[in-house]
Order: sequence, then C-alpha cells, then structure tokens
Amino acid sequence: MAQQSRHDAWQAGPSYDRYMGRWSARIAPLFLDWLEAEKGLDWLEIGCGTGALSAAIMARAGPASLVGIDPSAGFLERAREIVPDPRARFLIGDAQALPVPAASADVAVAGLVLNFVSDRPLALAQMMRVVRPGGTIGFYVWDYPGGGMGFMRAFWTEAAALDPAATDLTEDRRFPFCTLPQLIALTAGAGLHDVEGTGIEIATTFRDFDDYWQPFTLGAGPAPGYCASLESDARQRLRDRLARSLPRDTDGSITLPARAWAVRGRVPRSCG
Ligand SMILES: C[S@@+](CC[C@H](N)C(=O)[O-])C[C@H]1O[C@@H](n2cnc3c(N)ncnc32)[C@H](O)[C@@H]1O
Repeated sequence: MAQQSRHDAWQAGPSYDRYMGRWSARIAPLFLDWLEAEKGLDWLEIGCGTGALSAAIMARAGPASLVGIDPSAGFLERAREIVPDPRARFLIGDAQALPVPAASADVAVAGLVLNFVSDRPLALAQMMRVVRPGGTIGFYVWDYPGGGMGFMRAFWTEAAALDPAATDLTEDRRFPFCTLPQLIALTAGAGLHDVEGTGIEIATTFRDFDDYWQPFTLGAGPAPGYCASLESDARQRLRDRLARSLPRDTDGSITLPARAWAVRGRVPRSCG
C-alpha cells in the first residue's frame, strides 16, 4: 500500500486549519500535559504545519526557544502569524534531514506528522541527533487503523462506497502501523530509552452538516485533496450520502470521536 498520496496537499494554511488545524489545536495541549517537560527548554517541532502545536508549546511549556520545521512554505507563513513570539522561528525543512545542528534542542516533538514521512526510522534518528543526551522526544499520530479518527473514517466509508479506487486512499489502509505497539516498537528500535505511550481522546463536534462538509471541499489534506479532485456531480453524490449517514444530535450537530496515540522517550546519556 502506497503511504504517499497525490492528494496529500499541504499548502493553504487557512484551509488546513478549517479541516484539521482546529482539532490539532485541541489535542496539542493534552499531549503537552502528558509529556510533562520542564519550563525553560529549547524545543524543536518537526512538521509544525500551521502552528497548532507550536502555539500550545508557547502558551503552556514556557520554552526558552522553539524552532518549527516544515516543508510547506504556505503552512509556515500561517505558523508565523499564529506564533508572533521572538522566541520562535520557523524554517523550511524535512524530518529526514533536519536543518539544525546536532545537540541543539532539549525536546523534539512532532504532531500528526510521522505517518506522512517515508522513512520514519531516519526521522527518529534525526530527532535523536538534534536532541541533547538525556533530552525528550515525543510525537503523536491519529489512531487510523483503530477507526480513531471518526470524521475521516465516515468520509472515506462513503467515498469508497461510490468509488472503489478510494479504498486505497483511506488512512487506515495507508498507515496500518499507527497502532500503539508498533509505534512503541519503532521508537524503542530507534534507540530511545524509557519509551512509553498513551491514547489521547477528543470529541470532534461539528455545528451542523455544513460545518462538517465544507472543509472537505477546500482541498487541504488527503481527504479534502481527494474531494476537491472529484467532478462536481461525483462530489454532490458523496455529499448526499454523508448527509444521509452521519449521526445527528437533536440540535443538528454531529459529534464523532477522535483518538491519537502519543509516544515519548529519552535520548540516552551515552552510547553503550
Ligand atoms: C497533518 S499535518 C500536521 C501539522 C501540525 N503539526 C498540526 O498538528 O496541525 C502534517 C504536516 O506534516 C508535514 N510534512 C509532511 N511530510 C513531511 C516531512 N517529510 N518532513 C517534515 N514535515 C512533513 C506537512 O507539511 C504538514 O504540515
């Protein structure tokens, strides 16, 4: 199963925020509470996107500095707007070749990113290179295989019913390794010590069907990229199926569960 998809569209910051950034901003503080990093540290954030986790780091973790890295110039532009703090700077870069010196951070984190990186062991090796001995590495990804991203799962279920080719685009098929045991094994295998993981859950509530559907039409992210690629009649059929199948509360709102798996570990103080 291809892990990369031509629909992985990471350019338009405001559109991404309508689709995913609003949920990233909800899960990021819960992750930081679990990470329990001290104040006054130097942070590195990989795949910072539009800055949801960066903003939470500035607000809660009291960092001495934060370097956010992402390949998307459009997302970084948005992150700079959201985090106008002199302690923070944002650089274009790739998780597999981080553009920062060795041992230059105390903590390296990545929120909702690692599944999109082709060579995850290399990304973890890069995080270990840039974090000082004894420092912390932590990340989280959605529980795609366990159906833990309910609003995406609902979208793809209906998309695949109309278009069998969409089956291979679903995140649960693309990212089967996003289970807690496999993520812990990946992290421990990279050489980190004291590796631990946990589930972090939020409810994603949409005001009404339009609040659910409209972000999919904006083209930012894998499912919206697929949605935007459809001819208008196919998109309308998908919209109609979702409008019929999604569960509503009495006020017309739609609530679906979301769960991320978070993992943390410590960089060894010395080799051997
Ligand atoms: C789902 S978004 C998460 C963004 C942000 N961390 C958040 O929580 O909202 C995935 C991010 O990973 C970035 N990304 C994709 N491939 C990457 C790579 N090889 N190295 C670093 N970042 C990458 C994308 O540009 C995008 O910003």
